[in-house]
Amino acid sequence: MNRLKVTLLNKEFKNPLLPASGPTVGSLHSLKFFNENQVGGIVTKTIRIEGAEVHKPCIVEKNKIIHNTELWSELPLKKWVDDILPNLKKELKKPLIVCAGYTSDDFKISIPQLKEYADFFEVSTHYGKDGLKELVSTITSLTDVPVFVKLSPHIQDYLSFIAIAIENGAKGIVAMNSLGPGAVIDLNKKSVTIGVNEGQSWISGPAIKPVALQRVMSIRAHYPDLPIIACGGVSSAEDVLEFILAGADLVQMLSSALIKGRQLYDQIIKDLPRIMDQYDIESIEALRKTSLSLTPQGLGGFPVIDHEQCILCSKCVNICPEIAMMKDGHILNDQDRCIRCGLCESSCPTQAIKGVL
Ligand SMILES: Cc1cc2nc3c(=O)[nH]c(=O)nc-3n(C[C@H](O)[C@H](O)[C@H](O)COP(=O)(O)O)c2cc1C
Repeated sequence: MNRLKVTLLNKEFKNPLLPASGPTVGSLHSLKFFNENQVGGIVTKTIRIEGAEVHKPCIVEKNKIIHNTELWSELPLKKWVDDILPNLKKELKKPLIVCAGYTSDDFKISIPQLKEYADFFEVSTHYGKDGLKELVSTITSLTDVPVFVKLSPHIQDYLSFIAIAIENGAKGIVAMNSLGPGAVIDLNKKSVTIGVNEGQSWISGPAIKPVALQRVMSIRAHYPDLPIIACGGVSSAEDVLEFILAGADLVQMLSSALIKGRQLYDQIIKDLPRIMDQYDIESIEALRKTSLSLTPQGLGGFPVIDHEQCILCSKCVNICPEIAMMKDGHILNDQDRCIRCGLCESSCPTQAIKGVL
């Protein structure tokens, strides 16, 4: 039995990890890399009729956050349909998600040319609800290939946004795109490091994972059967499992590979069975059927310190917001001060504190 396999809308993925749309999937040689490595499926850079003119430089990493000002593919539709996609198709070993952008007029030209290559379409939406009906109905009227609508995190009313997407034929959701706008500053140059439209850039990587996780969890709670592809901040096998438990069917990753390198995809896939054993998870399919409790299961008591495990590092003493942890030969908790918040237990390096979480 393949413990990692996922079947979604009749397509089989040998594991749930895919690349996310971006610079690592924007050319034939990069797509071939993902065809040969272990990822379960492939996703393309967003394709439009004309190639994007991107202001350079456009990608930087600072403090484990990726900032970017990229647009869609710098290569035009013609290059994709004359060269990249036919050549990839000759040797394709796994499902292919084709990302198309951005307007109804684009779709009328691009979708008829792209649809023979796509197992799924993914459509980025940077707009509010206003243009959505026309956008989604245009693309779904042009193809039978399932269309996934990719959410931008700035759309606050995402549940009604999704309702409109589904009413107009979308078959699934990708949650989510980069967060922002943000900014990244270079103190030496006294300027933003990258940025467009008054210095704005877009943020991704592990820092945005909690936002993506909440979106996936909330969408799953409201749409029990809707196919969901999670995206945002994944960097480990544990992250993949958290997203599946939150309700995702498949999981995409980009920025952590920009931070740590492309070998991270295969590393995560290799790690998955071991981490699944650790958490008693039989298979990804079984985890997809497991419901996540949205009520914390913590004990809410006072911290209990295991003095055998404690290495007297004083971390809990230094971080306690109420100065309720003290070191006097060993670590003591002052229950008159302690607010049972859980911070000490969550950050103890040797798991010597129990009783709160
Ligand atoms: C440099 C860069 C380029 C991106 N280009 C695209 C794109 O062309 N189309 C798209 O839908 N998302 C694009 N994204 C967003 C990613 O696909 C993804 O949604 C986001 O980065 C969050 O995932 P991550 O934290 O794993 O990177 C881009 C992100 C980055 C960092």
